[in-house]
Amino acid sequence: MIITVTSHKGGVGKTVTAVHLAAYLSWHTGMSNEASTLLVDADPNHNALRWQQRGALPFSVVAEEQAAEHAPKHQHIVIDTQGRPGKDDLEALVQGCDLLVIPSMPDALSLDTLMLTIGELEELGRKDGYRVLLTSVPPWPIRSGSKARRTLEDLGVPLFDAEIRRREAFQKAAIMGVPVYDAKDRRATDGWNDYCRVAEEITTQT
Ligand SMILES: Nc1ncnc2c1ncn2[C@@H]1O[C@H](COP(=O)(O)OP(=O)(O)OP(=O)(O)O)[C@@H](O)[C@H]1O
Ligand SMILES: [Mg+2]
Repeated sequence: MIITVTSHKGGVGKTVTAVHLAAYLSWHTGMSNEASTLLVDADPNHNALRWQQRGALPFSVVAEEQAAEHAPKHQHIVIDTQGRPGKDDLEALVQGCDLLVIPSMPDALSLDTLMLTIGELEELGRKDGYRVLLTSVPPWPIRSGSKARRTLEDLGVPLFDAEIRRREAFQKAAIMGVPVYDAKDRRATDGWNDYCRVAEEITTQT
């Protein structure tokens, strides 16, 4: 399976999402890193590569330039992209994958930018094959997560049922160079479970 994580807006959790979907797929297949899952870091900032270099991730991570060489050896490929893809880039991203995951935070500005991405996908004739993931959803009593969900549902935007709550554990995981389940934080397991729910939706419905 090839999953691409993209969004027009920067800093919405693309890299965090790509790392944890890859971690789930790698665990789910139960195969060695070499045979299971490859994360392609297609962002010139190389945040995913640096995450891996700071610690240890349970899958292979390569830069885009090495993707062609490594991809055939893996069962699953997750591609982390840079923000603000041009329309041609978006078209290439959509065509080359089984599922496009579009993370968005639930605030008004992020949703505005998200609708630009959705508009471009529709112009490309793409009505399915993508799903929006709400990330960094703040805790109760802030209700931006449920409001965003209602707005997107009313607009008919395909949306994951699961969402990723805002947890400091993700920032600790990135600093330590590990998946969130190995971060030293009492909410680490909650963060991991959020991504497991998203990944289960992908593996059961794709
Ligand atoms: N669920 C979350 N809870 C708390 N912090 C989060 C969460 N998801 C992401 N973050 C933090 O938000 C910041 C942006 O996340 P990330 O780097 O994954 O976004 P991005 O979309 O890949 O950004 P860029 O466009 O710069 O590549 C990081 O500091 C990350 O640790
Ligand atoms: Mg990133």
